[in-house]
Amino acid sequence: MGRLIIISNRLPFSIDREGDQLTLRQSSGGLVSAIKSYFESESSKNRGFTEKLWLGVADFPQNEWTVVAEKLEGRDFEVIPLFLNKLLYKDYYNGFSNSLLWPLFHYFPSLVEYQAHYYDAYVKVNRAFADKLKPLLQPDDTVWVHDYQLMMLPEMLRTDNPDITVGFFLHIPFPSYELFRMLPAEWKSSLLKGVLGSDLVGFHTHDYAQHFLQSVKMILGVDSNFHNMQYQDRLVKADLFPISIDYKKFNTACDDPETKQHYKDIRNNFEGKKIIFSVDRLDYTKGLMDRLNAFEYFLEQYPEWREKVVFILNIVPSRDDIQAYNDRKQQIEQKIGTINGKISTITWQPIIYRYTHLPFNELAALYKAADVALITPLRDGMNLVAKEYVASCSARIGVLILSELAGAANELNEALLVNPTDIVEVSNAINKALTMPQEEQQHRMALMQQRLSDYDVIKWVSDFLDQLSNVKVEQEKQQ
Ligand code: UDP
Ligand code: G6P
Repeated sequence: MGRLIIISNRLPFSIDREGDQLTLRQSSGGLVSAIKSYFESESSKNRGFTEKLWLGVADFPQNEWTVVAEKLEGRDFEVIPLFLNKLLYKDYYNGFSNSLLWPLFHYFPSLVEYQAHYYDAYVKVNRAFADKLKPLLQPDDTVWVHDYQLMMLPEMLRTDNPDITVGFFLHIPFPSYELFRMLPAEWKSSLLKGVLGSDLVGFHTHDYAQHFLQSVKMILGVDSNFHNMQYQDRLVKADLFPISIDYKKFNTACDDPETKQHYKDIRNNFEGKKIIFSVDRLDYTKGLMDRLNAFEYFLEQYPEWREKVVFILNIVPSRDDIQAYNDRKQQIEQKIGTINGKISTITWQPIIYRYTHLPFNELAALYKAADVALITPLRDGMNLVAKEYVASCSARIGVLILSELAGAANELNEALLVNPTDIVEVSNAINKALTMPQEEQQHRMALMQQRLSDYDVIKWVSDFLDQLSNVKVEQEKQQ
């Protein structure tokens, strides 16, 4: 077996700077969490790839690469950094990727900015990825391209190497045809043709896969038979692979002394109080304003909970030089100030807010300490936080309140599923969660934990790679 090459816009680490000091921390977001967990697992070592490589955009200048490379030594994979012109990157990343594809695919068409130079930059950056890979590629490599920032890359790779094995996975929703068709004609057909350069296309849910197949039919006139398409005389398959988490890592996290200490500190600090917890990247898709409105309404509707509950709200910095993100941050902070100002007492503050990245041990301790996880995105491809909360620590009690508009709601049926914009429903769900008998909490958690341990991130990667090999075999049979 040859090498596995992961390609994503974001490398698995980001640089934090303090004066001259550079430190590496794990990049935020579900994509990195999932692939990195797989790379660190025994199972990835056993699969037999001769080498693992990860190609992504460097978020540091080229002259710092030697210092960064030293810090990366000892990792299970080799990093290939792509250095890009800053202005080009801005139009591709802030522009086409995050001010056009992201809002459109998450059903926020009013936030979409249709700018021709964003599109041009997107094509150029996808091309730059293809050019970077071209001289490195070996015939038996397996290439796995990730996410909406690189939808044109599979076709470019195939044009350069017609026999390449390439899979593509979309980590966000694929919207219904009615949304996708809003794109200008050339853009929408190039995006679909780009993805169809792969052998296998993966989505989190059945709906997303169906939306994609429908757009392919309506825009390119390519029919599908179940999940198979015949595109340019080649079999291409689109299927669902619900992403998962490193179940064992989260389930055993509480055995770690550092996690235990954090847990003790949190519990001591909020002794006698119930803890509601949420953690999300700063993003308008995460429903943070509606969540705050619902929590405020809850404290008004159920005043008996005042001074008996705290809401620990952690927001992870993300894309904050994009206007729509920055605006949201200000609105959220204002709202938190209003709620705390209005409802706090001398000895109690209802919302504990932090805007920061959390180290793993602290995140695991917060998951364990939380009586309720309140996870209410307006749209989310999957939402790994919901799965991590459920998995965190064996003999789990606690209640997950989850938006029915997150991909994870398809698998976590024992959560209290809510419509995130319905503040009355969310407020009632909070009360129900806080008063749920322990046996019922345990019962619901056990069912969800079982499902997550049966289908963890290792299984997700293996399933995808197995199917990719199968498609290649079927293609050969057709020749
Ligand atoms: N996470 C992180 N840094 C933090 C807090 C959380 O990287 O400070 C991780 C979290 O553990 C989860 C991921 O970020 O694995 C978020 O994934 P999710 O699918 O919930 O949302 P996304 O950010 O991908 O939209
Ligand atoms: C989501 C996307 C990823 C992205 C992550 C973090 O999970 O699906 O592709 O990497 O958010 O966003 P960022 O823009 O910081 O990479």
